[in-house]
Amino acid sequence: MPRTPYIAANWKMNKTVAEAAEFIDALLPRIAATQHDVVVCPPFTALHEVVERRRGTAVRVAAQNMHFEESGAFTGEVSAPMLVELDVEAVVLGHSERRQFFGETDEALAKKVPAALAADLEPILCVGESEAARDAGQTDEVLERQLRADLAEVADEDVAKVVVAYEPIWAIGTGKVATPEQAQEACAFIRDVLRARGAAADDVRILYGGSVKPGNAAELLALPDVDGALVGGAALVAEDFAAIVEAA
Ligand code: PGA
Repeated sequence: MPRTPYIAANWKMNKTVAEAAEFIDALLPRIAATQHDVVVCPPFTALHEVVERRRGTAVRVAAQNMHFEESGAFTGEVSAPMLVELDVEAVVLGHSERRQFFGETDEALAKKVPAALAADLEPILCVGESEAARDAGQTDEVLERQLRADLAEVADEDVAKVVVAYEPIWAIGTGKVATPEQAQEACAFIRDVLRARGAAADDVRILYGGSVKPGNAAELLALPDVDGALVGGAALVAEDFAAIVEAA
């Protein structure tokens, strides 16, 4: 079975409720005919609005983070059941900005990924190397370490329910996109790591993220092991995001 292309808009800390509503209203007519998985990741405050506006459409909604516990004394955190109650369907986990600025660890991710799956939320697990790691020839080592740690508590038969996003840190928000060779090589390596641990690796959707734009999307999305894109900056404008969905 061919893998369905998966295009996700990561808004990060952008868009008020009013701006989110405007985006969804502009996006929906532009992607009405798509057969791809189209996912929008708003900040927590706009989740409800986006969920309600996209009802009856193919657009799915993801949060940008969650805690692994269901409830408790964790000020400022949000749990999987809280997201599910809103009809959120997926959650981004381990984005490099969370790892870099908010102390996200592989230990926490090893709990978050199974907690998301247990709640029926599709995890979009982000992995990727720094520029220093790439320059030192450690890209594969970093990717393998993150994947093994973050998926350690996921049963082999459940790994294909996880969407993996390869996001080289040096390409995020920098305009410095990975070359097609770099993106293909890393995504193929990720698939090999998943296969080696016993997963149905050919069923896993692996996304590329890092300065994806309407102008470079088609080339990246045509690569054999790149099944979609996690888009930041270019996903803030409905026309640009729709063009990326169309390029897939
Ligand atoms: P970018 O962000 O498209 O702005 O580089 C991608 C991401 O961080 O998911």
